[in-house]
Amino acid sequence: MKRRILLGSAIALGMGLSAGVSMAETPPLEVKDTYRVGFAQMESNNPWRIAETKSFHDTAESCGWELIATDAAGSAAKQVADVDSMIAQGIDVLFLPPREEKPLLPAVMKAKAAGIPTFLVDRSVDEAVAQPGEHFVAFLGSDFIEQGERAADWLSANFSGDKGIIVELEGTTGSSPANDRKKGFDDKILQDDRFEIVASQTGDFARDMGRQVMETLLQAHPEVNVVYAHNDEMAIGAIQALELAGRKPGEDITIVSIDGTRDALQAIIDGKMGVTVESSPFFGPLACDVMKRYAAGEEIPGWVKVEDRVFTIDNAADHIDEAY
Ligand code: AHR
Repeated sequence: MKRRILLGSAIALGMGLSAGVSMAETPPLEVKDTYRVGFAQMESNNPWRIAETKSFHDTAESCGWELIATDAAGSAAKQVADVDSMIAQGIDVLFLPPREEKPLLPAVMKAKAAGIPTFLVDRSVDEAVAQPGEHFVAFLGSDFIEQGERAADWLSANFSGDKGIIVELEGTTGSSPANDRKKGFDDKILQDDRFEIVASQTGDFARDMGRQVMETLLQAHPEVNVVYAHNDEMAIGAIQALELAGRKPGEDITIVSIDGTRDALQAIIDGKMGVTVESSPFFGPLACDVMKRYAAGEEIPGWVKVEDRVFTIDNAADHIDEAY
């Protein structure tokens, strides 16, 4: 039954299968000295994305990659077109951080149909339709639900007030980190009856939008005393909006976030942000290692999980020099 649904999904998405590639397996990868590698980045508008792309470039020479890297400038449609172009250029392997869960499904399916093994890095697609070990080799990345839970745990343990009134700044709508960071945090924090989430709105993982959304939500909910942002860029934007409105982040409002950027660690050191749960962008070395193991015929787990740390006032200064 499951197989019929999956085949149906692939056909519905207009994807054929090339001869010799079984529906149930990912395409093999030859052991070679050099590989033509596609890395289809989604956007380059924040330090996290820039650090991730740099990590792939930095890894290329030592891993024998002839790297074709693109930037979809925040457009899922362009990201799909970029993958099309990489397939036409004869890449051996694809590394793809899918901007959103559903719109990037065609890229995954087309790469498989072209006999190209795909590794999803840092974000995933809708796994009800495309599965690791079948449509793509593996997802390399963090546990975004756990990141949200850890942010909630820190807040529960460190909030000293009677009532926590939370505004949530969500990441890109339809992206796996936005979906999962919301679920992890909301489910956990609402088990503590001191807390209420009065507004939850997307800031698209961007600093400017985080600032603008915070300005608007602050007018609607002046009583807010906690901000949970799905990434540091939006948290920094929110801090700017709050300070402009005369609020004192870290004193009269607690800021909780995810990523571990340099600006966030500095905000923690300055007393403006309470916590940031790490989400590492340094995927290049892991991508090289997993790709080579796959080429050698090793069984790769469907999820190669990245372990994250938590940065607070206790350790932010120790890690700021390695931050991006
Ligand atoms: O996919 C990971 C998320 O994407 C990072 O947390 C965010 O900053 C980035 O844009």
